[in-house]
Amino acid sequence: MVGPPGSGKGTQAAMLSERLGLPHVASGDLFRSHIRRGTPLGTKAARYIERGVLVPDELVLGLIEDRLTDPDAAQGVILDGFPRTRPQAEALDALLERTGGRVAGALFVDVDRESLLRRLAGRRICSATEDHVYHDISRPPRVAGRCDIDGAELYQRDDDNPETVRTRLDQQLPPMYEVVDYYTDRGVLTAVDGDRSVAEVNDALLHAIAQHST
Ligand code: AP5
Repeated sequence: MVGPPGSGKGTQAAMLSERLGLPHVASGDLFRSHIRRGTPLGTKAARYIERGVLVPDELVLGLIEDRLTDPDAAQGVILDGFPRTRPQAEALDALLERTGGRVAGALFVDVDRESLLRRLAGRRICSATEDHVYHDISRPPRVAGRCDIDGAELYQRDDDNPETVRTRLDQQLPPMYEVVDYYTDRGVLTAVDGDRSVAEVNDALLHAIAQHST
């Protein structure tokens, strides 16, 4: 899944994961887990994430390679937020070549800047699992501040403050478009209009996946 910050990659990847029975592997979630556990990798990554800039490729690649060698990834995964630079995309292809895999499809969720700002400003996340994502206006929980699924407290991400959001959009979109070009050149990219309801975007993604599988 490729897309700007706040485009709905995480929301959609969680739905696809459940529907397709494949693990949802999100580089941002993996980093935040390291930060919460206070690991050396988490300490290094936090310095970049809190400023809204990309974590250096060498820190990202080891993290993803480790996750892809977990037994549950053997049948494939839904990658969310990785690769985010052209060197990451090239490194992923090299890794998959060694392990006999391939990128079956790249799904680009495209959303305009104004919607991204609104989505990130109102996002609330479950403190028990990051796959449960809400929005103050478009997807409010039934009980304010509590996850509908497990009742855990909802929180706002530190990097969702307006200043860091602006940096994330300004700094991270140019390399993202290089990834879009990379997969377009390889004939595996499908762009989906993400400025629609969650259900409509999900239908479009499932349709694209069905086409990639044929
Ligand atoms: P990461 O956690 O990957 O953040 P991101 O890419 O900025 O994406 P988000 O998680 O913010 O948004 P999303 O697209 O998943 O949207 P969501 O579904 O939540 O990365 C964080 C940081 O880690 C980066 O800034 C970077 O520093 C570092 N990092 C991570 N990976 C890296 C890499 N590979 N290389 C280098 N650095 C890396 O939805 C957003 C909101 O919108 C929610 O409230 C949701 O309810 C709502 N919403 C979703 N869909 C819709 C819809 N269709 N209509 C209305 N509202 C919707």
